[in-house]
Amino acid sequence: METRIFENKAEDLKKAAELIRKGETVIFPTETVYGLGANALDADAVKKIFVAKGRPSDNPLIVHIADFALAEKFVREIPDSAKIVAEKFWPGPLTMIFKKKPCIPNEVSARLDTVGIRIPSDKTAREFLRECGVPVAAPSANISGRPSPTAFSHAVEDMEGKVSGIIKGEDSAVGVESTVLDMTSDIPTILRPGGISAEQLREVLGEVLVSSELKEDGIPKAPGMKYKHYSPKGQTYILKGSAESAARFIEKRSKINSVAALIFDELAEYMPKSAKLISLGSKNRPEDAAHRLFDALRECDGLGVKEIYAPEIPETGLWRAVRNRLYKAAAARIIEAESAKTVLFICTGNTCRSPIAEGIFNISRKNAVAMSAGLFASGGKAEPNAIAAAAEYGADLKNHKSTQLTYEMLENSDIILTMTESHKLSLPAELNVQTITEFVGEAGEVSDPYGGDIEVYRSCAAKIKKLIERM
Ligand code: TXA
Ligand code: MG
Repeated sequence: METRIFENKAEDLKKAAELIRKGETVIFPTETVYGLGANALDADAVKKIFVAKGRPSDNPLIVHIADFALAEKFVREIPDSAKIVAEKFWPGPLTMIFKKKPCIPNEVSARLDTVGIRIPSDKTAREFLRECGVPVAAPSANISGRPSPTAFSHAVEDMEGKVSGIIKGEDSAVGVESTVLDMTSDIPTILRPGGISAEQLREVLGEVLVSSELKEDGIPKAPGMKYKHYSPKGQTYILKGSAESAARFIEKRSKINSVAALIFDELAEYMPKSAKLISLGSKNRPEDAAHRLFDALRECDGLGVKEIYAPEIPETGLWRAVRNRLYKAAAARIIEAESAKTVLFICTGNTCRSPIAEGIFNISRKNAVAMSAGLFASGGKAEPNAIAAAAEYGADLKNHKSTQLTYEMLENSDIILTMTESHKLSLPAELNVQTITEFVGEAGEVSDPYGGDIEVYRSCAAKIKKLIERM
């Protein structure tokens, strides 16, 4: 599909709006993140959004309008409390959930009887929405699972060729998505923390609940909360502890792996030069961290680093939104700089057993970080059957590249585990090397599945999984 680029000027915004009215998709800037818009009243147009993003269809979309007066056309009832909130925070980075009217198609609401309404404050967004003359359903304009786009270049990177148009606006001023506030529950409830904080809302509403952010079981109330989000390609960890202990840990890792650290400027002086340092601004300015966060995560992807360390973030005000996004990027992997162990898995070629072990270990949420290497590694990818078998446990080996074991890796790892006795015997005796079975107090070894069919790999992965559970 040809993607037209529209400049931020009146005649271009008119052309872009025309595409929306014709049932096409257009990406537009907002103060939170860029949105991927389509006419919210046209079910076929809305379906194109899900196709372009690769988004699950049970995740509802927010409807964007230019003026509050239009809201009553699409929602059944606007409680007085919502009018007060609207008065104070609209236009702005806030979405309110109301009971919907039948004109909102199921494609927008994902069959819920509610709809999210937002009035953005970004000048270009408002001009564009006015030109559209129809409500515009829009999720963030990223490929599903990637960091949300906060710059025109991010939107182009993810969506060129997949949408009819992209409006070239400024970088998003706020940088994290809107707060999603459910006004249909007895007590207004924040389903997603965002640009307007719970504290700000409490000032006008009194009691406001914040729904648990990282619910693992049960259905979270904002359907979008249950999906993996914002995940950069490198393994991301929240690293807790003092600046000194975090710096020590990052230094140790960056000696043997490619590492990026998202840091506050105040901590820069502690950090090792060996890691790529990406600034989140001052530790006293949540608005800086919010503004930079998604760009920082995309930068990590660009650098191709394998491990990403992010700081612990407070749970107040705008920080809550930053914390929520980072915890999701880290898939809630939290480690303690002072006590976290570093693990090195070793096999022959680093294409089957040790990458499976690394992958499964790193999603097991232990206070540890694992990597893997081979005695004779060629730099190739993981074996397709290894990728498939590990995927059954949720581990992603698609980007794995086999890595030659080095002495540095052995020297800088706390726990060194081989798959077999003979691997172990080929390593210097003075190092504390154990087979993975020995480490958990079992007999036997993990034999090589290489050349076997998928069943052979499955049973190999199952064995490794069991051993890791016992670590
Ligand atoms: O700032 C933003 O909100 C951006 C810009 C483009 O406006 N949009 C955005 O949309 O972040 P999206 O689709 O990426 O996230 C919308 C979130 C999802 O978690 C979704 O499940 C939730 O809002 N949501 C939408 N409609 C809902 C509803 N009726 N009930 C509960 N949650 C809803
Ligand atoms: Mg999104």
